[in-house]
Amino acid sequence: MATFLAILTATSLALAQAPTTPPSHETGRLPALGWNTWNAYHCEIDEAKVLAAAHSFVELGLKDAGYEYVNIDDCWSVKDSRDSSGRIVPDPTRFPNGIIGVANEVHDLGLKIGIYSDAGTQTCAGYPASLGNELIDVQTFAGWGIDYLKYDNCNVPSNWTDAPNPPDGDWYNSNSGIRYRRMTDALSKVSRPIQLDVCIWGQAQVWTWGARTGHSWRMSGDATPTWSYIIDIIKINVDHLDTIDFFGHNDMDMMEIGNGDLTIQEERTHFAAWAFFKSPILLGTDLSQLNSEQVAIITNKELLAFSQDPNIGTPAKPFTPRSGAGTTSPPEFYAGASSKGMHVFIMNIGSSTTTKSFRLSNVPGLSDSGRFIIHDMWTGADVDGSFTAGSTFSVRLGAHDTAAYLITEA
Ligand SMILES: *[C@@H]1O[C@H](CO)[C@@H](O)[C@H](O)[C@H]1NC(C)=O
Repeated sequence: MATFLAILTATSLALAQAPTTPPSHETGRLPALGWNTWNAYHCEIDEAKVLAAAHSFVELGLKDAGYEYVNIDDCWSVKDSRDSSGRIVPDPTRFPNGIIGVANEVHDLGLKIGIYSDAGTQTCAGYPASLGNELIDVQTFAGWGIDYLKYDNCNVPSNWTDAPNPPDGDWYNSNSGIRYRRMTDALSKVSRPIQLDVCIWGQAQVWTWGARTGHSWRMSGDATPTWSYIIDIIKINVDHLDTIDFFGHNDMDMMEIGNGDLTIQEERTHFAAWAFFKSPILLGTDLSQLNSEQVAIITNKELLAFSQDPNIGTPAKPFTPRSGAGTTSPPEFYAGASSKGMHVFIMNIGSSTTTKSFRLSNVPGLSDSGRFIIHDMWTGADVDGSFTAGSTFSVRLGAHDTAAYLITEA
């Protein structure tokens, strides 16, 4: 009983003191496009690798395609101490010019820079973290010119554990919510807009409060460069598509294109799904090793335009392609609107080439009369043929590949 009361009192106290500051709307309206060190290098990071990625943005046409954020993940600081003023110190060997030196060079290229911290006592790799140090850390980051913060979820003290049910039935009021709200509040106290990536691995029903706290929120544990990860995260994400709109994005985690042995078809599906669900797209590989086919995927103008649509913030959602169609998990047919018209995305989750078909009148948002042009977003060319609402459109699709179309009235 005493323990129960102690926990209750601690929770009520934390809640009473919990800030309710909303996230900045000067940043994070659209899903972030960029790169992050982790999937490529884990802890083996340094200034040269980060700046090489920034220069690749320019050389490979990524900057022109809209990629903006060059983000440093875990392991960037001195490990066991802060300075005498309590500030986190950049590792002088890895970052001899400090984070500010990297930030200046990244900004000079017309790009933005991100950093990493953690809402616990230490980061996942055991470096200084920001729970209890939110304001001083944010002031430090803002002083360096940081534009984006990935805020991780390791090493949470036991008294911050979530109760089975949050106060008022709202997970915004859970201890997890409060840990992140403290950071949102600290960010509001510096003049520099800093995008907040709530890296909470899909815990505490984050999709219900993520947009009240940050700009994007992780829906799962870390990605792996495997087809099974891509399928699993799509399955998780399709249950929570209604919470995605401007300033609030389900984060399906950083990209694995270029890593492991994903096939080119799987890489197309990976990119298309992150784009049509409006997840942040943060590349996670050594960009200099990508081949031209992979660069073409990640710079596909039409898929990026869907992701970054200035007028429509909602993602594509599953639809039934024709009467009597069976269901699959995850669904294979998705439709969504952009400023240009309606889009259909078709994923072949099967392990062999298959014909996939939909009836145009089944696509939500398409007029049920008139003639239509079907445009292939991958090739940039219109599909041959003439289509009406009653037409059934079919495509042969390789194993694990995704087709992407824009449909407009002729
Ligand atoms: C956990 O303990 C720390 C240190 O005593 C305190 O500052 C913090 O508010 C506590 N957290 C909660 C949720 O009560």
